Amino acid sequence: MEKKNIDWGSLGFNYIATDKRYVSNFKNGAWDEGALIDDPTITMTECAGVLQYSQSVFEGLKAYTTEDGSIVCFRPDLNASRMADSARRLEMPPFPEDRFVEAVKQVVAANEAWVPPYGSGATLYIRPFMFGSDAVIGVKPATEYQFRILVTPVGPYFKGGAKPISIKIADYDRAAPRGTGHIKAGLNYAMSLHAIVEAHKQGFAENLYPDSATRTKVEETGGANIIFIKGNKFVTVGSPTILPSITRRSLEYVAEKYLGLEVEERDVPLTELPEFDEAGLCGTAAVISPVGKITNGDQEICFPSGMEKMGPTIQKLYDTLTGIQMGRIEAPEGWICKIK
Ligand code: PLP
Ligand code: COI
Repeated sequence: MEKKNIDWGSLGFNYIATDKRYVSNFKNGAWDEGALIDDPTITMTECAGVLQYSQSVFEGLKAYTTEDGSIVCFRPDLNASRMADSARRLEMPPFPEDRFVEAVKQVVAANEAWVPPYGSGATLYIRPFMFGSDAVIGVKPATEYQFRILVTPVGPYFKGGAKPISIKIADYDRAAPRGTGHIKAGLNYAMSLHAIVEAHKQGFAENLYPDSATRTKVEETGGANIIFIKGNKFVTVGSPTILPSITRRSLEYVAEKYLGLEVEERDVPLTELPEFDEAGLCGTAAVISPVGKITNGDQEICFPSGMEKMGPTIQKLYDTLTGIQMGRIEAPEGWICKIK
């Protein structure tokens, strides 16, 4: 199989249509058998639930070419179960979790020519998504849905790759208590667009949202969880209104079992920010993106790790996680799903 003629090293985080996508439709109370198709477009009624009331959920994971030339993905079972949780919260029929994993494997294998080579710095981003596809005019769930998976080769999410970024405490709220912050619904991202455009205009790479009930505690950014290093401690945010990041949960294990760090998942008051040695954003797209500075109104919190390179402990976490994903370091049981 010949790889596509792409300059893998210069890819950003953008969509390129690949050869195949996976589609399954839900109608009359059941999912059909699903298929790989060529058409990257979707035709549906103008009154579809997704268009009128944003009834959509999605996931994000990646396929990697490992050191030995295999193609693998990372913990897809956790994306399957999180997507089912997201669907239930928006009154959508969950796509069966075993079929989700099978569909991921099928669509990656069918797009093998688009999986970036080992060492290229790029990966294949996998975007499963699901939406209400039949007409809805009163506020109620759709009765028909489409589950679909597209894949696209990507480079780093933040420009500059491993260079530390500067972020701000958001002027807006992301997730209400008892709202939808813990699921991956399109609506959480739609409402963050104004805030991210403003943050970019002000020179920040991302917004760090505080909890919306009290605005005194750190939650997460628009597209990633946040992690901190304090001495030998690996500190993450425990909150019911953030997305349970698979990367963060994996890093908690890596920190403890591979690096011997003490792991704390807990409330992180904004007032504690100046006490941390290092910070980073973690997620499928972000991998681990180091944070050099957090601006909170007039206050600037500059981490000792600086704006030039990753701090030493975040670097170790990054090397270990990506080492596991790319097959250089032995993975915990069940983390790596071999595709080819
Ligand atoms: N938080 C938000 C809001 C996200 O959109 C993402 C991306 O998926 C994450 C966290 C990271 O989650 P994961 O590590 O499962 O990709
Ligand atoms: C991911 O990391 O997969 C996400 O969905 C985050 C998104 C902001 C690109």
